[in-house]
Amino acid sequence: MCGIVGYVGSKDALPILLGGLEALEYRGYDSSGLALVRGGAVEVTRATGKLAELKKLFAQRAGDTKEPATQGIGHTRWATHGRPTETNAHPHSAGRVSLIHNGIIENYLELRASLEKQGCVFKSETDTEVAAHLLNTLLEKGLETREAFRQMCQAVRGSYAFLAIDQKTPGHIYVAKNSTPIILGRGEGESFIASDIPALLPHTRRIIVLEDGDLADVSADFIYLENRGTPIERREEQVTWDPITAQKGGFKHFMLKEIFDQAQVVGDTIRGRFSIETGAIMLPELAALETAAQRLRRVVLVACGTAWHACLEGKFFIENFAKIPCEVDYASEFRYRPQLFDADTLVIAVSQSGETLDTLGAIECAKGKALTLAVCNVVGASICRRADMVLYTHAGPEISVASTKAFSTQLIALELLGLFLAEKRGVMSADQRRSILEMMIHVPAAISAALKVEPQVIAAAKSFCTARDFLFLGRGTCYPIALEGALKLKEISYIHAEGYPAGEMKHGPIALIDERMPVVVILQRDKLLFEKTLSNLKEVEARGAKVLVITDAADDKTLGVVADSIIRVPYVSPELSPLLLNIPLQMLAYHVAVMNGTDVDLPRNLAKSVTVE
Ligand code: G6P
Repeated sequence: MCGIVGYVGSKDALPILLGGLEALEYRGYDSSGLALVRGGAVEVTRATGKLAELKKLFAQRAGDTKEPATQGIGHTRWATHGRPTETNAHPHSAGRVSLIHNGIIENYLELRASLEKQGCVFKSETDTEVAAHLLNTLLEKGLETREAFRQMCQAVRGSYAFLAIDQKTPGHIYVAKNSTPIILGRGEGESFIASDIPALLPHTRRIIVLEDGDLADVSADFIYLENRGTPIERREEQVTWDPITAQKGGFKHFMLKEIFDQAQVVGDTIRGRFSIETGAIMLPELAALETAAQRLRRVVLVACGTAWHACLEGKFFIENFAKIPCEVDYASEFRYRPQLFDADTLVIAVSQSGETLDTLGAIECAKGKALTLAVCNVVGASICRRADMVLYTHAGPEISVASTKAFSTQLIALELLGLFLAEKRGVMSADQRRSILEMMIHVPAAISAALKVEPQVIAAAKSFCTARDFLFLGRGTCYPIALEGALKLKEISYIHAEGYPAGEMKHGPIALIDERMPVVVILQRDKLLFEKTLSNLKEVEARGAKVLVITDAADDKTLGVVADSIIRVPYVSPELSPLLLNIPLQMLAYHVAVMNGTDVDLPRNLAKSVTVE
């Protein structure tokens, strides 16, 4: 996820673009850059770090130029391919072209190889630079700019919002969209472009939301639009949001926005990483594991908080798919125990931020003794620099302290990792992998469908929000989800909640159950687990508890008798049930917290990234 802005008109573009990037900084902040068009020349300025660094460069140059630039494009980056360095920052330039991009180009390695054969010299490690070179190559062949841009987009596979400038056609910004948001803004004799509404609000409330396959040629007075080659018109809309609401995408809190981001970011995390045709898992970043996979005898997953729950799910993937014994440990415990592992052990640290001190400490303990791998959301974070390999999740910046979308991307990344290890160890046939992958591609759509249960969750939250204790129960892969549901509720609503394996409840927690204790039961479709959890549910119901069932199972008469309310999410596959069943739990925690009036995005005593022991 990155922030993109563009301006073409008659005003000074620099403050407009910098202001726009500031409003979009929540979308990425590891580097930033601008391309300004001044008197037919394009000037590119880039800086690493927060936007303040880029602003400093312009402040130092203030007064150097007399004529203000009246056209430009800008970018604030959240790295996916390539470290957060100045060379990897956008805009990327090639000959006449300056280009910025938000998204992931899946076929960039093959495009890059073919462009290198044609003599293109690459400066960065990014996927984006291939688009700049490809566009310039097409222009050099004599194509008119709009046509060259169209052909460039056709050659690229993946998700993108592109903004490009051709030095030879000043006054035009070429825009394209596929699976990544981009919005145009209309003014009087000026046009704006941004990846999100907040960047446009100081200048205009007249917007056009582009759809997948759209291509726009934007100039000050005119916007040409086409979709997959056919000229089209798109309705202009009037935005009524205030700037703060706009930054949250119209949601009341970042947490809710991030819950609703999940279909997109789970799709981003799997995109380009497997082939349905061959069943191959394509993770070139794990090349060092290709040969080591055969000899692995043990995997240890370490993490803190929500990431630790993702590890508990990861254990199922690694044991079931790759057939390697796997343990899960709290990073803060792991680092102070004897390190009884050898070079045939893989230690995996899972972390959204990549900065959690205990997780970093765990990786440092393992380094040199075992193979180390980080599953992380922030490119170039400390844990990534310390580990031998990194598998990135593509959740984009997570602002809310309570982690939601990062967790879902960790689950899907660990599933890919399990399949990758299974493939390299030769313990799962291509057909078996293919059938799992065929289900995996439906997950983003299933998440979108699962998000529709919000009204039912609100109704459940209303009846439970005054409770002082909650119990969350699940079996198998739903046990970590029970833990995560309880943690989310504790974190943001300050209500005591415990997650328990449903079968273990009779050994203690059952003593707590009475009519004041809501019990949330996570019930997956799997026949054996369903029946066994149902028995536990009956034990709970018999003791007078209020029961909320979250399930992906088909309608079952028995369930209706024992549950006070039932919330159903779509079923995709046994492995992916936890990801979908967790969504109503995230929403439940959110709505209970809102009803109790807590500070949802910044809960008391908690920090997003814990860099102390
Ligand atoms: C803090 C956050 C949690 C997070 C945990 C681990 O406790 O409040 O939301 O799960 O740290 O963070 P990490 O960045 O390592 O995933």
